[in-house]
Amino acid sequence: MIRDLITKSRSYRRFYQDVAIELETLKGLVDLARLSPSAGNLQPLKYILACDPEKSAMIFPHLAWAGYLKDWPGPSEGERPSAYIVILGDREVSRSIDCDHGIAAQSILLGATEMGLGGCMISSIQRQGLQEALDIPSRFEILLVLALGKPRERVAIETVGSTGDIKYWRSSDEVHHVPKRPLDEVIIG
Ligand SMILES: Cc1cc2nc3c(=O)[nH]c(=O)nc-3n(C[C@H](O)[C@H](O)[C@H](O)COP(=O)(O)O)c2cc1C
Repeated sequence: MIRDLITKSRSYRRFYQDVAIELETLKGLVDLARLSPSAGNLQPLKYILACDPEKSAMIFPHLAWAGYLKDWPGPSEGERPSAYIVILGDREVSRSIDCDHGIAAQSILLGATEMGLGGCMISSIQRQGLQEALDIPSRFEILLVLALGKPRERVAIETVGSTGDIKYWRSSDEVHHVPKRPLDEVIIG
């Protein structure tokens, strides 16, 4: 079960933009993050939720998509995420946040996958622009943005070949291919 869920939970970057995600759904996903591990149990993460087109449109311009796909500028109108969760670090709770946000993000994406949704963690963010667009007080640091929606693309996991190239790529049939290193390469002892 967990293997199926993790295998299905890929990074999706194209969506059925007209399939809305309810605010309550986003709150349920953040609740999964809330229950996840936190260093020192400090729980420094805060969240901004966006599921209406106006707020989503304020977030989208500040994100960079799929750096290896040089000819693709990101999802076009109609295939953009229908919702976002912005993960913030509250500096008044902790000055430095190590990996809490990664764990929270994965909990959220696994929950989304279980619901038939999908998404992508985005760390290539024009942080200052997004901070201003959403009027986020300086006490909060933007750590990650999760783009969410009903996936509109196929993603295939493959094994890294003899060239060692780990770059994801898109084939002419629009399938997004993701090479993963083999198990015997990643276990070193
Ligand atoms: C911390 C983190 C930051 C990421 N930032 C971006 C990003 O800024 N833009 C993007 O398109 N994908 C981003 N990704 C998605 C990765 O490109 C993706 O996880 C990788 O290609 C493997 O694909 P998979 O998630 O389907 O296994 C990020 C992933 C992680 C874990």
